[in-house]
Amino acid sequence: MPRFYVTTPIYYVTDVPHIGHAYTTVAGDVLARWRRLWGDDVFFLTGTDEHGLKVQRAAEAKGVGPQELVDEISQRYRDAWDLLDITYDDFIRTTEERHRLPAQAFMQRLYDAGDIELGTYEGLYCVSCEAYYNADELEGGENCPVHLRPVEHVTEENYFFKLSRYEDRLLEWYASHPDAVRPETRMNEVLGFIRGGLQDFSVSRTSLKWGIPLPWDPGHVAYVWVDALFNYCSAVGYETDPERFAHWWPVDFHLLGKDILRFHAVYWPAMLMSAGIEPPRSMFAHGWLLVGGEKMSKTRLNQISPADLVADFGVDGFRYHFMADQRFGPDGDFSYEAMLARYNSDLANNFGNLANRVLNMAVNYCGGVVPGERADGPLRDAADGAFALMSSAMERLDFAAAFGAVWDLIRAANAYIEDRQPWALHKAGDTAEVARVLGDLLEVLRVVALCAAPVIPNAAAELWRRLGLPGRPEDARLPGAAAWGGLPAGGALEKGAPLFPRKEAE
Ligand code: MSP
Repeated sequence: MPRFYVTTPIYYVTDVPHIGHAYTTVAGDVLARWRRLWGDDVFFLTGTDEHGLKVQRAAEAKGVGPQELVDEISQRYRDAWDLLDITYDDFIRTTEERHRLPAQAFMQRLYDAGDIELGTYEGLYCVSCEAYYNADELEGGENCPVHLRPVEHVTEENYFFKLSRYEDRLLEWYASHPDAVRPETRMNEVLGFIRGGLQDFSVSRTSLKWGIPLPWDPGHVAYVWVDALFNYCSAVGYETDPERFAHWWPVDFHLLGKDILRFHAVYWPAMLMSAGIEPPRSMFAHGWLLVGGEKMSKTRLNQISPADLVADFGVDGFRYHFMADQRFGPDGDFSYEAMLARYNSDLANNFGNLANRVLNMAVNYCGGVVPGERADGPLRDAADGAFALMSSAMERLDFAAAFGAVWDLIRAANAYIEDRQPWALHKAGDTAEVARVLGDLLEVLRVVALCAAPVIPNAAAELWRRLGLPGRPEDARLPGAAAWGGLPAGGALEKGAPLFPRKEAE
């Protein structure tokens, strides 16, 4: 059985979950569910990033201890993912011992390899990014380019990782793994950055306590990014369970936002090489979800919570919107109006109506059971084509195209109803033709439920049940299950209430 290991970034516990975090996590979940349908042995990892100056300061500002703060906010992330039906296999927290001990062993390996040296750091630091900037990268000469807030001038004795030694090795790696960073524009960005020359970077801090102590010099704690990136290895048994680690590593996909590409595509593979561990097979950096043209952030007060949208559109409505509305790659603007319009057109009208009409007619005209006949008409090719298109789009993580193909099939089925007018055939007493036409339409519903299950798992399972199918779509196995003609005759059909009730603007 092929294995498939996919990760989201681990989220900072200084912020509560917003739709930007949910965007990456839902994408990971859709991918994980899709691979499970193919029978892969899937490991889907998410978690929280709990160390560093940012957290230490946030706790001080709230007048609580850092542990109390991280416990509370980490739980908020779990709650958000439970609400969104995220089927993660593991949720790692960097304050856990199962992470701390392997992370220390990893740092020690880099040190023993001779790639870590003591030096003095003098530079400009953005606490919100937990990253250093060069003066020429700042906005208006003094502000962080991401947070538009002043950076801090820092002088500190630090250990440095000799990243400069890895330029050639990284370029070689990417030359022989041209798909390792996707989409292609991001790969070019990474190559440009490496070719521009790499500077050693600091991997420890003495100015704060809230972190993982370096094993050879406990007066220093690990730089939070080094600590955080390593979660991807500690979660799958690095140091503690070599067999398990060998099973899961290298990771198949790191999913991340474009803001943290450099850490993942440059620092991380170089450190892994130093420790003698293979770099990630691939990573995909998506764009930002913008609200009113700007990135969501606490300071801009433009954050939207997943729970607010779930209250209006349901879990499936939420998941569907973010996967279908824009391509996973470029930035995209979020608007409530666009979400409402898409919900009504795609879910209430196209999907909901098709399910409703077909089930109603089949119950009324075919005695409430799946007929044994099929027309094997034009919908057969449409269904095969939709599945093929979806599969290739999913390989590219083009979720919008993948579900676009499924919704094209839905539209084709609605058009087929208009064309064949089963009610007229019924009125004319052509029982055999009614059964054939509805047989095809019911078969389309089955394929739609199966293909849409990764994104709208609840509606898909309900449709599955109403089609008289046993179990859930998740129990089916691709590609066989997508083959035309899999709906058993004689299954009891059920009409049921609308799966996606229409919503009016308030
Ligand atoms: N803790 C680090 C990641 C360490 S991974 C080893 C971090 N955390 S974060 O919470 O600030 O952001 C994590 C991720 O959330 C981003 O890379 C991105 O995937 C997602 N997003 C946060 N805001 C977002 C948007 N506005 N739009 C889309 N995704 C966003 O960075």
